[in-house]
Amino acid sequence: MIMDVPQDKAQRAQALRETLDRYNREYYVLDAPSVPDAEYDRLFQELQALEAEYPQLLTPDSPTQRVGGAALSELSPVTHRVPMLSINTETDKSAQGALSFDARVRRSLGLDESDPPVEYAAELKFDGLAINLRYEHGLLVQAATRGDGQTGEDVTHNVRTIDQIPLRLLGNSPPVIEVRGEIYMRRDAFERLNARQRSMGAKTFVNPRNTAAGAIRQLDPTIARQRPLSFFAYGLGESQGWTRPSSHAAMLDALAGFGFPVCTHRCVTEGPEGLIAFHAKIEALRPDLPYDIDGVVYKVNDFALQEELGFVSREPRWAVAHKYPAQEEMTRVLDVDIQVGRTGALTPVARLQPVFVGGVTVTNATLHNEDEVRRKDVRIGDWVIVRRAGDVIPEVVSSVPDRRDGSECEFVMPTECPICGSHAVRGEDEAVTRCSGGLFCPAQRKQALIHFAGRKAMDIEGLGDKLIEQLVDNAIVKTPADLYKLGVLGLAGLERMAEKSAANVVAAIEKSRHTTLQRFIFALGIRNVGEATARDLARYFGSMDAVMTAELDALQAVPDVGPVVAQSIHDFFAEPHNREVIEQLRAAGVDWPEHEPAQAPDGPLVGKTLVVTGTLPAMTRDDAKAMIEAAGGKVAGSVSKKTDYLIAGEAAGSKLDKAQQLGVTILDEAGLRALVSDAVSTDATSDEAPPQKNLF
Ligand code: IVH
Repeated sequence: MIMDVPQDKAQRAQALRETLDRYNREYYVLDAPSVPDAEYDRLFQELQALEAEYPQLLTPDSPTQRVGGAALSELSPVTHRVPMLSINTETDKSAQGALSFDARVRRSLGLDESDPPVEYAAELKFDGLAINLRYEHGLLVQAATRGDGQTGEDVTHNVRTIDQIPLRLLGNSPPVIEVRGEIYMRRDAFERLNARQRSMGAKTFVNPRNTAAGAIRQLDPTIARQRPLSFFAYGLGESQGWTRPSSHAAMLDALAGFGFPVCTHRCVTEGPEGLIAFHAKIEALRPDLPYDIDGVVYKVNDFALQEELGFVSREPRWAVAHKYPAQEEMTRVLDVDIQVGRTGALTPVARLQPVFVGGVTVTNATLHNEDEVRRKDVRIGDWVIVRRAGDVIPEVVSSVPDRRDGSECEFVMPTECPICGSHAVRGEDEAVTRCSGGLFCPAQRKQALIHFAGRKAMDIEGLGDKLIEQLVDNAIVKTPADLYKLGVLGLAGLERMAEKSAANVVAAIEKSRHTTLQRFIFALGIRNVGEATARDLARYFGSMDAVMTAELDALQAVPDVGPVVAQSIHDFFAEPHNREVIEQLRAAGVDWPEHEPAQAPDGPLVGKTLVVTGTLPAMTRDDAKAMIEAAGGKVAGSVSKKTDYLIAGEAAGSKLDKAQQLGVTILDEAGLRALVSDAVSTDATSDEAPPQKNLF
């Protein structure tokens, strides 16, 4: 027991030291942080505050007394000739942060109100990793990480792979100069890298900073080379035989002259007002910057004044980092809900313990789809890292498996829609699971009704989005069939519904009762069934019953209906709710003329897809099309892997090129004729009955 220190405080300080030590090692030594920076900063500040209140608690090995972690043994250690220090962080509200820094500087310099304002250099605080680049006689001889500030690691082999870092300085170079700055990864480079990882089925990276840090500390430089890194210079280490400029701003200009990238978002200003304006300007710019920053840095511009101010403990008195709200925070997943979107897509959404991130309180974040939940290994009850960069929708970056206590449970994608109980189906090559409830599902109902009433569907004039919303919200209309039960009374009392307009809407609904099969099929809003497909289905099957009972094969026989579309149609009618709504609509008097189904296709080209292009010598393209369809084949508009034959005439263009690329068989008009008769003769030699005679 330490005298005068409450036991709980002493225990807390001990626990904080241990936790921070571990986080430090994970972050600096292993490049595998398990918590976001903001969490680390918070614990660090808590420990600092405890040590300030009870100085007896301060131990020489406290994380507050050193900078970062020790060097890894695999890379050789480098002792910094000039220690690489850290900067004090100001987290106060925008104006206050700059004001208190200025006040501290003035006090330390012994300035009073009558003295002129201090000149500052303001720049960005890049979110990457600090590096010391040593040049001797203009040649890059060594690059070292910061490590613990005294000793870093030799990473020259990786740094040499960074195009932005000069291997030889421009102009007259001093015998020795050490340039310091930040290695970082641009957001677009990071996105590209992750897209590549995904396409290879490999693990994706968490954020640009960790990716850059991980690359720099690789033993094999080819890995760093594959991760495009960038660099900004912002400081100096040792120098010999060089007359250093007299200010920070002049030094940055000199570094730019040596060939280093120096960020252009910087300014020299007097007093705290300019700093405040810079802070605000950069905050507005932050979402559009091509790289991550976590704040701005203010530095006393004049080097002589910097020397006068000196250091306190591990930090210079002449600089401060003024941070922005963290873009990453840690919180818990209380539950995972399912949101049903317009098209019936079921999206898992993490309900979060409210957390302040990126300047707003976030209570939920999308998990996109089932695969993303697995990839990020997010479980209900997990601690997760939540990111909100710029105006982007908050997202869960990853889980923090270290923090599990065994009570977490895996998320299971429901097999039924949580809103309506219909089957939820995930297509074979799709990431999205969808509710098959269609018209029946309330979440999809509004959208479905809007579509149903649309001009190209049932064409119900006056039944607009606003009205449909009210009808659904007031539970007046649940399915399109309910529309036909609506009287003027049902509409009266709704917002902006005078008796006259109510009567008009009712009349429009009445009028829509007598429609066409094509309009009716389109109005159902079956996925992948647009106007043209609805027309083809109506023409081909002739009646609603025939469409509803068609098997996949029969559906695919319809011109332009492929396996995907056929499956959507089949799924839609397999759902009892959908059939029920159709029955109700018929019972409500919705009708259309029907006809006998077209003859089932037959002929030598059944199952074959052909594309016709160019000018054929003896037939029009429509003739060719008719010939192919009569032989049971399908005619498609564009060449793809699924094309069996391209029929090419004179002046065939890009379709011919594409077919050649894809190795599609290319025939001329004679070839087409031969194909039709050839196929006939092949079939005719078989034991089966000769195929039905076609038009040609
Ligand atoms: S100056 C003695 N300027 O922030 C001052 N640092 O906490 C030395 N950083 O290790 C640092 N942008 O990784 C400085 N414009 C900037 C910076 C910057 C980012 C990082 C750097 C450093 C840490 C200090």
